[in-house]
Amino acid sequence: MNEKQRIESQQATANPSDKKSEKDYSKYFERVITAPSLKEAKRRGKEDVQYHHDFSIPEEFRGMGEGRKFYIRTYGCQMNEHDTEVMAGIFEALGYEPTDTTEDANVILLNTCAIRENAENKVFGELGHLKALKKENPDLLLGVCGCMSQEESVVNKILKTYHHVDMIFGTHNIHRLPHILNEAYLSKEMVVEVWSKEGDVIENLPKVRRGNIKAWVNIMYGCDKFCTYCIVPFTRGKERSRRPEEIIQEVRHLAAQGYQEVTLLGQNVNAYGKDFEDIKYGLGDLMDELRKIDIPRIRFTTSHPRDFDDHLIEVLAKGGNLMNHIHLPVQSGSTDVLKIMARKYTREQYLELVRKIKAAIPDVTLTTDIIVGYPNETEEQFEETMSLYREVGYETAYTFIYSPREGTPAAKMVDNVPLEVKKERLQRLNNLVNELSAQAMKKYEGQIVEVLVDGESKNNPDVLAGYTTKNKLVNFKGPKTAIGKIVKVKITEAKTWSLNGEMVEELEAAEVK
Ligand code: SAH
Ligand code: SF4
Ligand code: F3S
Repeated sequence: MNEKQRIESQQATANPSDKKSEKDYSKYFERVITAPSLKEAKRRGKEDVQYHHDFSIPEEFRGMGEGRKFYIRTYGCQMNEHDTEVMAGIFEALGYEPTDTTEDANVILLNTCAIRENAENKVFGELGHLKALKKENPDLLLGVCGCMSQEESVVNKILKTYHHVDMIFGTHNIHRLPHILNEAYLSKEMVVEVWSKEGDVIENLPKVRRGNIKAWVNIMYGCDKFCTYCIVPFTRGKERSRRPEEIIQEVRHLAAQGYQEVTLLGQNVNAYGKDFEDIKYGLGDLMDELRKIDIPRIRFTTSHPRDFDDHLIEVLAKGGNLMNHIHLPVQSGSTDVLKIMARKYTREQYLELVRKIKAAIPDVTLTTDIIVGYPNETEEQFEETMSLYREVGYETAYTFIYSPREGTPAAKMVDNVPLEVKKERLQRLNNLVNELSAQAMKKYEGQIVEVLVDGESKNNPDVLAGYTTKNKLVNFKGPKTAIGKIVKVKITEAKTWSLNGEMVEELEAAEVK
């Protein structure tokens, strides 16, 4: 029986006497090609966001995955990682089993990232590799989803060059996965379903989380900041906040299940609540509620300096389960460059915010993101980034060379900075990052830190690994029973990116399920 017959027979068994399911097919087929449009994606509509709680696997698709395995490779940020957990949840609800190898898989999805050109190149490289596997196993379904799918140029390139891809679907179409899979099994053509404009918020999607110690919780979707270099507002749609009660309930539920840490997710979590029409409620209010929940650690990412308000600082200063690490992307230390980037703050305003945060939370650790080689960035402007870096005293940073993204305003700017100069600036900045990072790591030597133990170290199963409140990786010898708990570790040696130590005692007796 080929794939098409198999699906048809499955649907026939699901609905033996019901001709309706056949009618439904034609409805699904109408959508087979829904290609993205960046122009559409840029629009910000006034219409209210609708919240849905009615996701379910349609009757006729149940059992679709029986005897089949799925594999998802994830690129990009935590938002994508979390989307992968949702897609895994949908696959399992359809009866599929997970697998760790592409060779074993009946469906392979690449959950992609569009943030920089090299992120995209990795995906095209992987698509090339997977061609051989697809030849060996023509029944294998290969799909591309995530942020790259939202770009016209990517979809066109795949349609033109990567004929072995069976389906492309966008970040707003995740809940449509059962339908898309069904279409892909039945159709000879590549199935493309990418909605350009954000849809609603769907609350009850299934999830298979990466473990039972740490969990991600979306607090908002999308971004309206439109920094001039950035593709995210196009790939993720407008800002939509989840209702506080939904988030609080989710975190409570995770706490009850024994999770030790949640990370609240959003592209710009500080804009949380700005889209509510009926209540005045921001990230500070949300954190103030969440800190009362009996869960040891709460983090959030990513912060935008512009919306970081005093109330939030006040709440974070209460400490407790709110972690003393803030990732606060600055992008550049030059007010002129920040202006062209449309970051909407100056160097001075950023430094003032840092001053306020440090005054309220004296043991805070700050980390950041920086872009070097923005179009026409001068040597002086770059030096301002270097001096700001020292002045703030970040523990570490993610640093990037500017990468033009089609459709963004910066991509149209004439750029007089040669690539060699950009690379040299990145090198200089990285040297500074490493220098300050080494200094910061050295300070931990001799200190006793609290470590949430994730599991065995990747390189040595005799060693345990976990993270401090400030998100520093610690490797240490300890009993396996410490996994999933928070323990005290004395740091014996600082390495460049991690710390070595010895366990002193267990801090929390809380058993993880
Ligand atoms: N929403 C987050 C950023 C998400 S993207 C924020 O505003 O902080 C993560 C980082 O990628 C950004 O902070 C920025 O430093 C970098 N980045 C984004 N677009 C880029 C581009 N076109 N070229 C190079 N780096 C980029
Ligand atoms: Fe991109 Fe700026 Fe939005 Fe961050 S805040 S996702 S950098 S547009
Ligand atoms: Fe990449 Fe999309 Fe995240 S572009 S960084 S995966 S929001």
